[in-house]
Amino acid sequence: DMERDTPQQVLTKSVWILPCPLQGHINPLLQLARALAGRGVHVVFLVPKATLPERSSLETPGLSVLALDDGLPPDRSRGSNIKDSFDSMNHMESAFVRLLDASRQGVACLIYDAFVAWAPKIASSLSIRSSCFFTSNATACAVVCHIPVLIDRGILPFRSDENAPLPTSEIQGIDGAPDLLPEEFPVCITFDATHFRYKFMAQLAKTLRNASSIIINTVEELEQEPIAALRASVPIYTVGPLLLLSGRPSRLAVNFWPEDDECLQWLDSQTPSSVLFVSFGSMASPSLHQFQELAMGLEASGQRFLWVVRPDSTEVPLQDALPVGFLERTKDRGFIISWGPQLLILSHRSIGGFLTHGGWNSITENLSTGNVPMVCWPHEAEQRLNRRLMCDMWNIGLRLQQKEDGIVAKEEIVRVISRLFHGNEARELKEASTHVVQLVTKAIAKGGSSSRNLQDFQRNFISV
Ligand code: UDX
Repeated sequence: DMERDTPQQVLTKSVWILPCPLQGHINPLLQLARALAGRGVHVVFLVPKATLPERSSLETPGLSVLALDDGLPPDRSRGSNIKDSFDSMNHMESAFVRLLDASRQGVACLIYDAFVAWAPKIASSLSIRSSCFFTSNATACAVVCHIPVLIDRGILPFRSDENAPLPTSEIQGIDGAPDLLPEEFPVCITFDATHFRYKFMAQLAKTLRNASSIIINTVEELEQEPIAALRASVPIYTVGPLLLLSGRPSRLAVNFWPEDDECLQWLDSQTPSSVLFVSFGSMASPSLHQFQELAMGLEASGQRFLWVVRPDSTEVPLQDALPVGFLERTKDRGFIISWGPQLLILSHRSIGGFLTHGGWNSITENLSTGNVPMVCWPHEAEQRLNRRLMCDMWNIGLRLQQKEDGIVAKEEIVRVISRLFHGNEARELKEASTHVVQLVTKAIAKGGSSSRNLQDFQRNFISV
């Protein structure tokens, strides 16, 4: 079939992009879609029907959208429940096979999220080239690729159940990664090999190891060792930060929760660099006890704050979760929203610090926009590993001390906010992250590593 293509047909071929239907996955893949569309490639972006926003906000020149039937009622496939997202993703397989089969003549290659394990097999059965996309950094990719080795050696799972303590000695010998404490691994791979999330991680490792190439939203100059280690077995295209390659920061085209916009006007009325932005991404849900300590800490700090509290992230309605009288007492200097235009918020001159869970998108978005000093408060997934990179390797974030029961106390929150906004440490953080931003800016400029890699990818997978 390929041989019959005329040059004209080749030019009109599209790249199909298949994300896992999670907010933190759709966002970077949509940025990749826009980066390619901006370079003259026609891109088809696939989303589950239930997640489909108004088309007008998503479709841009060179980018079309295909909705896949995921067989779930609209409200089930949105949100932070990972099981629902996986169900939605797996339900899409048959619709995807039919569509791809029907369109195969026009498809130059498939870029699939590493979370969608079934995608590469389908592409290869239809003789379509494919490349894997990993949403996090190269260090996390190297660690995940090492999981099968640790399973074979009987080192994983580290413990029998989620509540058992983790061993405290470091795991050595992960190619390209520093020695890691067991607590720095994604929690779900540390216990119960029969749990669906454990099996999912083991599968993710296989998907990455079998990929014919992996696209990563990172920058070569930041992660040379893990990238070199990965390249020993698979071609790696680092193309980060995608936000900068894809155009100006704007609103998300696909929002899993309605955006609250009023916060932008509120930010307009604040003094420069005075507001702490508090956001834990699309999945993390602190316990009620922890939530209340955070609220008390924000109040006691005296700092201005803009706090994202997703409706599904508190165990009880917000009013009941907050300390009595909190909203009244903080109304002149605090603003709570359920979901916001994070890119516009981070770009706003009133923001002076970012208390983040350390999701890879949040970190790279901040480096790409406001570049404000960060506190990293990991909750789950690979966020503890991200903290290691941020706080120990690049020195662009502060850590929080937990008490023995795992809770970060109000006093610690007050202390870290003060360190973030005042004094030497704040200055050092700013200097280090300015250095990182310089590397990153160079990488996306003409001739820089990310921009070259995107070009190479285009040449190797799309234009041929
Ligand atoms: C998770 C992992 O933590 C992350 O490292 C991985 O790469 C993807 O899966 P998540 O927990 O959602 O992601 O965090 P993050 O990676 O920070 O992504 C959250 C996204 O939601 C960001 O793009 C952020 O801009 C957006 N967001 C968040 C909003 O648009 N509005 C908000 O109010 C909060």
